[in-house]
Amino acid sequence: MIAVLDYGSQFCHLAARRIRALGAYAEIFPNTTTAAALKNKKVEGVILSGGPRSVYERDAPTVDKSIFSMGVPILGICYGHQLLAYVLGGSVVPSSREYGKETLTAVKKSRLMGGLGKKEQVWMSHGDSVVKLPHGFTLTGKTRGCKIAAYADEKKRIYGLQFHPEVQHTMHGMRILENFLSICGCKRSYTIKGLDKKLVAEIKAKVGNGAVIMGVSGGVDSLVASALIKMATQNIYCVFVDHGIIRKGEAEYVRKLYEALGFRHYYYADASQIFYTRLKGVTDPEEKRRIIGRTFIEVFEAKVKELKARHGEIKLLGQGTIYPDRIESAKASKAASVIKTHHNVGGLPAKMKLKLVEPLKDLYKDEVRELGMMIGLPKEALMRHPFPGPGLAVRIVGEITAERIGIVQEADFIFTDELKKSGQYDRIWQAFAALLPVKAVGVMGDSRSYGYIIALRAVTSVDGMTADWAKIPNDVLERAASRIVKNVRGVTRVVYDITQKPPATIEYE
Ligand code: XMP
Repeated sequence: MIAVLDYGSQFCHLAARRIRALGAYAEIFPNTTTAAALKNKKVEGVILSGGPRSVYERDAPTVDKSIFSMGVPILGICYGHQLLAYVLGGSVVPSSREYGKETLTAVKKSRLMGGLGKKEQVWMSHGDSVVKLPHGFTLTGKTRGCKIAAYADEKKRIYGLQFHPEVQHTMHGMRILENFLSICGCKRSYTIKGLDKKLVAEIKAKVGNGAVIMGVSGGVDSLVASALIKMATQNIYCVFVDHGIIRKGEAEYVRKLYEALGFRHYYYADASQIFYTRLKGVTDPEEKRRIIGRTFIEVFEAKVKELKARHGEIKLLGQGTIYPDRIESAKASKAASVIKTHHNVGGLPAKMKLKLVEPLKDLYKDEVRELGMMIGLPKEALMRHPFPGPGLAVRIVGEITAERIGIVQEADFIFTDELKKSGQYDRIWQAFAALLPVKAVGVMGDSRSYGYIIALRAVTSVDGMTADWAKIPNDVLERAASRIVKNVRGVTRVVYDITQKPPATIEYE
């Protein structure tokens, strides 16, 4: 196993995910984890992730120095690169910022960079730089703005990279990580084959004859989790809370899906009016998320009470929590800077006194999809794009009104339809329409009209942590845009969003 120590970078998970994709198991650990704890876990290599702090700041996260005498290879990335240099006797200073694609020039060969060219495209994001290397370290790579962009101590097998090998814009990043696994001597035998049987057995042992209640959304995670729980017990009660800010036709779609899969107990809670009332006039994105999160819990609790009265005691709560949700909500390290409040994890209050059943808690999204295929769930349902818990609330910038919801739903439906018809949908991580609360002029018939601007967003991504805008053929975009303006009242203009994440996020709020 490879341990990834978390210094708060949003790419921390990406590093672990990439290692798993290369066939070695990786887990995230808080940066305060001791060498003794890592030894207990039989760790074969350690990665120090990036992070937003500066190593020379007071209270900046550091590393247990005993890790250096564990005898396992160590790779520092970005903050990790600076931290290794700093604690081993080098120096780190504030420098000019490098952000985005840069060219790395190899200065000296290293095992870590084996098979790479003299010049390589890498992706940078830093404001500090290592300016002096510790004794025994060799400079292996530099960029225009960073004199020490890569270093190595081949004897101790300690490596540092100022750039991020885990992001897709670093052209041969996977090769670098592969080299690191070879240096670690990892077997690379990690696979999820057979995991379904193991998980079902674990659920059976936990659940016994008890009843499990579960909120389902129609999304991939809750679908796969509920299907696994159903394989362990028929005593699962699925509840779909409709907050009214969902995709067009979604409630009907989910009901049919669960019916077709043979779930005996499926319940629908229409709570849209309560949500609309509470969201009236609210424009602050985090406030919207808080209201939706709180109200969701209230409605769900009321449903649990009702079901208990009808069916008897329910002591277990099923959840489709996946690995990144869990680590993000646990704020793995003090360094983790919260970008958004994700309401769907850990939101259900402890006072409900329900024991959690979370079969997917150690898996990444693509592993969840693979598992879903293994247990025979419909491909169409598994390939659905992710949909955020707060739904269209984070795609309607500003106040949510019934008119705006209707507009976004229709535009989103048309865009999705065009993507499916043209075969683009499955190539894309996530695509949707968002409403911008400004009005632009248009000409309809002979008169000028003012209407909203719809932004179409489609991104390719491995796990939503970094994303590139999808290069959709122009004719598909054109068809979607003209259908939207023609059919959705209140829209005069459609734009296509071509920003990457980072610096932008996928959603609009
Ligand atoms: P961002 O916008 O942060 O999105 O680039 C990354 C991924 O997370 C989803 N997302 C959310 N999911 N509650 C959720 O359940 C939220 O508040 C939320 N905000 C973003 C987003 O759809 C994308 O897949």
